[in-house]
Amino acid sequence: MIAKTEEDFKGLKEIGKICGAIRNELVLRTKPGITTKELDEIAGRMFEDAGALSAPKGEYDFPGYTCISVNEEVAHGIPGGRIIQEGDLVNIDVSGSKDGYFADTGISFVVGQGEEILQKICDVAKEAFDAGLEKAKPGAKKSALGKAVQNVAKKHGLTVIKNLTGHGVGRSIHEAPDHIFNYFSRWDDEILKEGMVIAFEPFISTLEEEVYQSNDGWTYLTDDSFVAQYEHTIILTKEGPIVTTL
Ligand code: CO
Ligand code: CO
Repeated sequence: MIAKTEEDFKGLKEIGKICGAIRNELVLRTKPGITTKELDEIAGRMFEDAGALSAPKGEYDFPGYTCISVNEEVAHGIPGGRIIQEGDLVNIDVSGSKDGYFADTGISFVVGQGEEILQKICDVAKEAFDAGLEKAKPGAKKSALGKAVQNVAKKHGLTVIKNLTGHGVGRSIHEAPDHIFNYFSRWDDEILKEGMVIAFEPFISTLEEEVYQSNDGWTYLTDDSFVAQYEHTIILTKEGPIVTTL
């Protein structure tokens, strides 16, 4: 959406704050021994207390309030009986709505002590996000974000996932612009606009550049890589980007 009114900014900031708080709480509660279902139930209660709705559940009938993906799972992991272990790479992605406004945020992190490469891809995903955020200005090319992400990955000897992308958000969970790529595409000449609301989410990989969908119809998987994501919802303004999900 294009945020124009005071009400738009207020509504977007409110749901952004709720989703950010749920994300932070779930990260804190992710300890060895807890199941992904138990984590998701915490999110369900927090959505309810805030008077907000889970976007994946409400919009797509996803079997969970949040997407929780572990190790070989990259995105859209279904919360269930999987028990978190020391050293796991976990991604928690929280998206929701309140009063017709949406936000989307996610983070990958290592539980306790893990392999060094896992922490590295998490750090690089954040670095790629920060590099892209600097390019996120009205009047700039949308492709500048993907270029920044790809350059950061390359600098660290890592790759990006090409078939998972950021997207417009605001009045629904996925809307125009349909794709914010994590690589430079010369055909992508769309210009970012004042007030445009986007979910920007670099996916940094150790090796592969594509994920595939599991038989469960939801989870995106890799075989030979580990992948980390870092996502926030951003309102683009002349005065600088407003990150609603901090
Ligand atoms: Co997300
Ligand atoms: Co998203």
